[in-house]
Amino acid sequence: MKEINKVGIIGAGMMGAEIALCFAMSRYEVVMKETTLELAQKGKDRLDGVLDKAIKKGKFKAEDKALTLSRINPTDQYELFKDTDVAVEAVFEDLETKKEVFAQLDSVCKPDCILATNTSSIPITLIATSVRGERIGRFIGAHFFSPASIMKLVEVIPGVETKEETVTFMMDCCRQIGKTPIRVKDVPGFAVNRLLHVLLIEANRLVEEGVATPEDIDTACKLGLGHPIGPFTLMDLTDNSLSLKVQQIMCEAYGERFRPRPILKQKVHANHLGRKTGRGWFKY
Ligand SMILES: NC(=O)c1ccc[n+]([C@@H]2O[C@H](COP(=O)([O-])OP(=O)(O)OC[C@H]3O[C@@H](n4cnc5c(N)ncnc54)[C@H](O)[C@@H]3O)[C@@H](O)[C@H]2O)c1
Repeated sequence: MKEINKVGIIGAGMMGAEIALCFAMSRYEVVMKETTLELAQKGKDRLDGVLDKAIKKGKFKAEDKALTLSRINPTDQYELFKDTDVAVEAVFEDLETKKEVFAQLDSVCKPDCILATNTSSIPITLIATSVRGERIGRFIGAHFFSPASIMKLVEVIPGVETKEETVTFMMDCCRQIGKTPIRVKDVPGFAVNRLLHVLLIEANRLVEEGVATPEDIDTACKLGLGHPIGPFTLMDLTDNSLSLKVQQIMCEAYGERFRPRPILKQKVHANHLGRKTGRGWFKY
C-alpha cells in the first residue's frame, strides 16, 4: 500500500470531524478544512466530548487524548492539502458544492493523492467528473456511517473510471484506521441505504396508519430485532432532511418502493429535523 503520511478532510460537520478523528486516533496527521477557521475549530472542539465519552466507556485511554487531538489541524485553506496522500470530502450533500471542492483539491493536491467522497446519495461517477485527466482513476467513494468514530463499516465505491489500485488502496486505508470496508457498485443508495430506507419508510407508514407510536416502533426494533437503535431515533440523529433527500433520489432511481411518506415531508417542512433543531420525532 502507498504510504500515508498526511490526510486531508474537507468539512468539519457531523461526519467530517469524526472521520478526521478516526485518522488521528490511528496516529495520522490530519488537516481539516471548513469554510471558515471558526467552523473548523468548532468541529475540532466537538471531538473533545466524543473522546470523553469513549474514555468513560473504557474504549480510549485518557492519556492519549491531547496527542490525538493535536494531530488534527483545523484550517480554511486548501494550501495545506498540497502534501496530503489521501483526502476525504464530507461537505454538504450538494453536487455543485462537492464539484467545487474537488476542482480545488485537484489543482492543489499532488498527482498521486487519492480523492474520496463520503456522499450518501450522489453517484461517484458523476462527482468524479470534477477532476481532470489522470486523477479520475484516483477518485473513489468512501461512505462512512454515523457516528464515524464508532461505526466500523465503510462502503468503498469505485466509479466507472476508478483504477483497481485505488480500490485496493482505499480498502487498505480503511483497515489501517480499524474499519471494515466492503466493496459496493456505484448504484443509487449503494447497499446500506437501500436496506435502511426500506425500514425507515415502513416505520413512517406504521405511524401514519396509527399502528404504533415512534417510541414503540423504536422499542420493537431494539428488543424484537436486536437493532442497537430504533429507526426514529436514528432519523433524528442523522437529520430528517437527509432521509428525505436520499429517499427522493432512490425513488427516482427505483420507483415506488422508495417514495418518501408524507409524514416525513411534513417533519422537514416544520423544520423538525431531529437533534440538530431540538425537535424531530422526539423533543431534545
Ligand atoms: N449525517 C450522516 O449520517 C451521514 C452519513 C454518511 C454520509 N453522510 C454524507 O456526509 C456528508 C456530510 O454530511 P454531514 O452530516 O457531516 O453534514 P453537515 O452539514 O453536518 O456538515 C457539512 C459541513 O461541510 C461544510 N462545508 C460546506 N462547504 C464547504 C467547503 N467548500 N469547504 C469546507 N467545508 C465546507 C459545512 O460548513 C458543514 O460544516 C454529506 O455528503 C452526507 O450525505 C452523512
